[in-house]
Amino acid sequence: MSGPVSGPVRSGGAGGGAAAGGEVGATCVLLLSGPNLGLLGGRQPEIYGTTTLDDHVETARAEAARYGLSVEHVQSNHEGDLVEAAHRARGRAAAIVVNAGALTHYGWSLHDALAAFDGPVVELHLSNPGGREPWRSTSVVTPVATGVIAGFGGAGYRLAIQAVAGLLGHG
Ligand code: DQA
Repeated sequence: MSGPVSGPVRSGGAGGGAAAGGEVGATCVLLLSGPNLGLLGGRQPEIYGTTTLDDHVETARAEAARYGLSVEHVQSNHEGDLVEAAHRARGRAAAIVVNAGALTHYGWSLHDALAAFDGPVVELHLSNPGGREPWRSTSVVTPVATGVIAGFGGAGYRLAIQAVAGLLGHG
């Protein structure tokens, strides 16, 4: 991972693309990663596996390329950064794939920002939160998501892009 320690980590596209407010087209998918996902690879590997977030993003990018799509990625431990990335995607990105981490369960400002986005929103989780602690069964993202992919580990990143490609008519 690169970027400032406390700021959002952005990657992909000249000038940061959708995430940074640059010019991107109807083929750009914004991938949002919430708190603690930057620790993937070493974080509770029995639940989340040993693959790093960078590798998951690479998987998403490679799959997107098969459908003529590109991926902009923003990871942050701060809800406001993710809210702002979703704002910048309005009118620029064609779809959002979001693994909001624990914000999934209480991040109402992220909920509202996703609701303000016009295109498809795919909620993504490595684990199946509904099968874990009771507090993980509530998602504030689900009500504004087109669909949810959960419990398939890293394959979920490929599945989420396939879902987006189908929704955008790139399938
Ligand atoms: C997660 C599930 C969330 O409950 C948790 O807080 C995460 C990761 C997942 O990908 O399985 O950080 O979103």
